[in-house]
Amino acid sequence: MIIMVTRIALIGFGVVGQGFTKILLEQKESLKTQHGFEYEVVAISDTMKGSVYDENGLDLNKLLEIVEETGEINSYPGGIKGWDSLKTINETNSDLIVEVAWTDLTTGEPAISHVKAAINCNKHCVMTNKGPIALAVNELEALAKDKGVQIRYEGTVMSGTPALNLAMLTLAGSGIYKIQGIINGTTNYILSEMEKGLGYDEALKQAQDLGYAEADPTADVGGYDALGKIVILANVVLGANLKKDDPPCEGITKITLDDVNSALEEGFRWKLIASAELHDDGSVEASVAPKKVPLSHPLANVMGPTNSLTFSTKYVDDVTIIGPGAGKEATGFSVLIDVLDIHRLTSYK
Ligand SMILES: NC(=O)c1ccc[n+]([C@@H]2O[C@H](COP(=O)([O-])OP(=O)(O)OC[C@H]3O[C@@H](n4cnc5c(N)ncnc54)[C@H](OP(=O)(O)O)[C@@H]3O)[C@@H](O)[C@H]2O)c1
Repeated sequence: MIIMVTRIALIGFGVVGQGFTKILLEQKESLKTQHGFEYEVVAISDTMKGSVYDENGLDLNKLLEIVEETGEINSYPGGIKGWDSLKTINETNSDLIVEVAWTDLTTGEPAISHVKAAINCNKHCVMTNKGPIALAVNELEALAKDKGVQIRYEGTVMSGTPALNLAMLTLAGSGIYKIQGIINGTTNYILSEMEKGLGYDEALKQAQDLGYAEADPTADVGGYDALGKIVILANVVLGANLKKDDPPCEGITKITLDDVNSALEEGFRWKLIASAELHDDGSVEASVAPKKVPLSHPLANVMGPTNSLTFSTKYVDDVTIIGPGAGKEATGFSVLIDVLDIHRLTSYK
């Protein structure tokens, strides 16, 4: 058996890029012995932290050490420095691009250009960026099919909790007709804290102090982050062709402490619920809105920043997963899920 070495280039070396690198290092031996997967990371390109390329592979321990000490990678000894993301995608000897940079959710850029560049030069691409998938999944999948390469994006929904793989692989053929759940950890944390007596502003401030919410929390509390994810689920799992702004979307900004308390007295809990349903005529309806969920329902008991999704199916009824929706290692792991999946599909021809 000939084992191919996968040559990886990382675009972006922030939280997720470093989390994935750490897991690659820690799992190196078991990836080889259990999964026949051998790799070299040949390039990393990041706007502010710098970039480095060595066709024979980079020393990942050294890179993690340097970025921790200096906040950048320019002092890495050796390698070619200074290549931007597109040059790194196009001109390195990589055969798999990991796109873990930033996206403007209105245009999907620069991530859409990165993914298209990877596909156009016949490289597989794994991403955790929601932008390209929420805005252009059908176009990107068609382009990848045309070029005979794979794109994967498990981390775009629930990070390393395998929502997309569960739906697309394990539950394939189960007749999934409805998906609903809690897919934004920040808002679930805020609602959970309000139940302990904090007002909305206080709970939001606490979420920001803990790093769950951005300084500008609009994407989370306005429901737009959950909207991007439910559009991905609707389009990928239910075969819809929704645009990002098609479904109605309402966040949690109008929920007061009184609302939280009175719901509890009635035996309910407010949750920000994202849902998508496939109708008999083939249309798919999706929405994001705060809903009062009965305390007996599994989603009512998902607290703090944890996420959960229920897939309603024809043959196995409801299947629910609960797990993290963000985090350095959890999202870094989502990249590994996809890299291994591509390895399984492509390496033993
Ligand atoms: N963190 C999570 O838990 C999580 C979960 C699910 C999905 N995601 C998604 O995964 C992606 C990465 O997240 P993250 O948390 O790792 O973000 P991050 O810590 O901000 O890292 C992103 C990195 O990409 C770099 N970058 C931005 N534009 C670039 C470009 N054009 N070319 C090369 N590098 C570029 C940034 O550079 P500088 O900052 O140095 O300029 C930064 O170092 C995001 O799209 C995010 O939405 C994250």
